[in-house]
Amino acid sequence: NWTMESFIQTQISEIRQRVGGKKVLCALSGGVDSSVAAVLVHKAIGDQLTCIYVDHGFMRKDESVQVKKTFTEQFHLNLDFVEADERFMAKVSGVSEPEEKRKLIGNEFIRLFEDEARKLGQVDFLVQGTLYPDIVESGTETAETIKTHHNVGGLPEDMKFELIEPLRMLFKDEVRKVGIELGLPEEIVWRQPFPGPGLAIRIIGEITREKLDLLREADAVVREEIRKANLHRDIWQYFAVLPSIRSVGVMGDGRTYGYPVILRAVTSDDAMTADWAKLPYELLEVISNRIVNEIPGINRVVYDITSKPPGTIEWE
Ligand code: XMP
Repeated sequence: NWTMESFIQTQISEIRQRVGGKKVLCALSGGVDSSVAAVLVHKAIGDQLTCIYVDHGFMRKDESVQVKKTFTEQFHLNLDFVEADERFMAKVSGVSEPEEKRKLIGNEFIRLFEDEARKLGQVDFLVQGTLYPDIVESGTETAETIKTHHNVGGLPEDMKFELIEPLRMLFKDEVRKVGIELGLPEEIVWRQPFPGPGLAIRIIGEITREKLDLLREADAVVREEIRKANLHRDIWQYFAVLPSIRSVGVMGDGRTYGYPVILRAVTSDDAMTADWAKLPYELLEVISNRIVNEIPGINRVVYDITSKPPGTIEWE
């Protein structure tokens, strides 16, 4: 693709010129924006770039492993992979209020990132995967915070960096094209939006390791089946939610008392409004059967048929 190719070349020479011999930092989330930005900057300045990836333990199945593999084995970039699941788990233990969870996780994330960044000594630049719509939208603050967003890149005030935002003139579909051109795997290029606090806000109520494991498995089934049905590019987000209630069921000759899983799938253009996705009944049936049969501890599957508004996409 000629235009993407020339975009990449232009960015590379601009970045090289700006950075000179200095050090650059990037907070990598594994999402398409930060991934494409990181690989682009790495192409320009190689080992002068260090990426920090904080694994808070609330990622989806296999996600952190894939990030590690892609960025170290395929792209050979300096990746500071911070395994912090125990730390985050300790923080959120006993907490069930959504905003409290979000704030605890967001703050801990910043603290860890700062600690890692300080180890690198003098760093002058920070890479951010800001897109064109992000720039346009940031002027329109709503009066009331509905949810406190945790974003990779929401960094402490006292750390002064110059920003490198190589994607600032691009829309999402163009970022995906650049990602493909740079050789990023399809799972990253087409990754659906995923909230910063991850699965922590898809467990309604208190987070435990047991619930995390159940949710992770259920979510993997949802993603696999949507992918198989080839709907993954048409549906904005599709995932599982685990509420902290249990209900009675029957399996074989026995009574079960397990958690339900809530399926959430929405179509949207920008996440500001969304419609619940009219998934085919056959697909819902396959997903439901697989989850209940393959994941002991889950005995019921329900489908969320609420649009946004009045529902939000996430449950917390
Ligand atoms: P809601 O639930 O408010 O979500 O309808 C709108 C979109 O934002 C995503 N989301 C987040 N993204 N950090 C993010 O970067 C966050 O903390 C966060 N919380 C929600 C959500 O998945 C949906 O796409």
